[in-house]
Amino acid sequence: MDFELTQDQREIQGLARDFARAEIDPNAAAWDRDHAFPRELFGQLAELGLMGTCVPEEYGGAGADFLSYVLVLEELSRADAGVGVTVAVHTSAATLPILAFGTDEQKSRFVPPLARGEQLGAFALTEAEAGSDAGALRTRADSDGDGWTIDGAKQWITNGRYAGTFLFFARTDPQTETARGISAFILDAEHVRVTRDEKKLGLNSSVTNDLVVEGAKVGRDRLLHEENRGFRVAMTTLDGGRIGIAAQALGIAQAAYDVARDYALQRRAFGHRIADFQAIQQKLADMSMEIDAARLLIYRAAWLKQQGRRHTEEGAKAKLFASEMARRQTGEAIQILGGYGYTKEFPVERYYRDAKITEIYEGTSEIQRLVIARSILGLTERSLAVR
Ligand code: CAA
Repeated sequence: MDFELTQDQREIQGLARDFARAEIDPNAAAWDRDHAFPRELFGQLAELGLMGTCVPEEYGGAGADFLSYVLVLEELSRADAGVGVTVAVHTSAATLPILAFGTDEQKSRFVPPLARGEQLGAFALTEAEAGSDAGALRTRADSDGDGWTIDGAKQWITNGRYAGTFLFFARTDPQTETARGISAFILDAEHVRVTRDEKKLGLNSSVTNDLVVEGAKVGRDRLLHEENRGFRVAMTTLDGGRIGIAAQALGIAQAAYDVARDYALQRRAFGHRIADFQAIQQKLADMSMEIDAARLLIYRAAWLKQQGRRHTEEGAKAKLFASEMARRQTGEAIQILGGYGYTKEFPVERYYRDAKITEIYEGTSEIQRLVIARSILGLTERSLAVR
């Protein structure tokens, strides 16, 4: 077993870290305060190849492996988790599924503009009454000649307002009300109308939108994978996407730890640095241990994925542990900073707000436990597993 990153992985990690320190860190507090989406930043990331880190070079990407992409997400999220989620959804929830399930024609047409960062990608699965129960979605794609007419509304779509390409899920079999009978489509911005910008607790530098599709006519060239087999596309996509969200949570927790550790070494109370007190040492020791544990779970899941091996259970474990750890440990970072931690003078209150969502999107912690339980118990029938 080799725990060392390769030379290539270390280089790409260094590239993302240096860029994040220079271009993201100094602006993150202002973007958070102003709810500003840093559109031009993604052009800069594209110039570095980081909008298509793990996309093969023949499709416009940097040709690195999945673990390199995870390292990039960790570094971006360490500086600004909103930037992290924008890149995560763009890459693992929009670009990679087209690579995995697309025809040669679809891959050559839709992937390069995404991988080169000329367009942002979005993943439109969730609806007002289909969140955890994604298979209950109601958006319809009615058969129409040699294609479909799509009508419906989506909710909480990351990147919705700025995306050029949407991985979009709709029901193609009106006789069904479950996961069977759903298809995946590749839509353009012109098929979609954004109806709302969500106001959120955190991740203020990312956009989250409601959108509608009204009578959009699409041909067979827009169908990704087989008709009525789109739920498999969604689930496979989320298996990988969850590793990316775990890396986002890890980056947030690492940032909180860094601030808390530095503060503890400087702040004095009762005639000593507070790092000299066991109460603070024990908090920092737990933070450091849990960050390490999350990192190991995440790297294992990423390694399995890039070996082409099953990673559903391992990705869910990584996401579940990293997100709950980030919520816990960003709270501990505030505790170490005391009153200062609760103010805008330090970034830890932002980390705390940003961490919470990682327990919710790309599958809540409860859904991750369900996925893990199904895997370890060998349950596959829905009637047995969803209760
Ligand atoms: N890989 C491949 N196929 C899978 C799969 C996987 N991991 N999991 C399930 N499937 C397949 C099943 O084999 C089944 O296929 P068949 O029809 O061929 O038999 C089909 O998918 C349906 O599976 P289930 O019966 O297990 O489906 P279910 O309705 O019981 O749902 C669930 C399972 C795990 C609860 C699922 O609905 C789920 O993951 N829910 C959470 C949704 C979610 O994570 N949403 C995130 C939104 S995107 C987002 O948040 C992005 C963002 O902005 C950051």
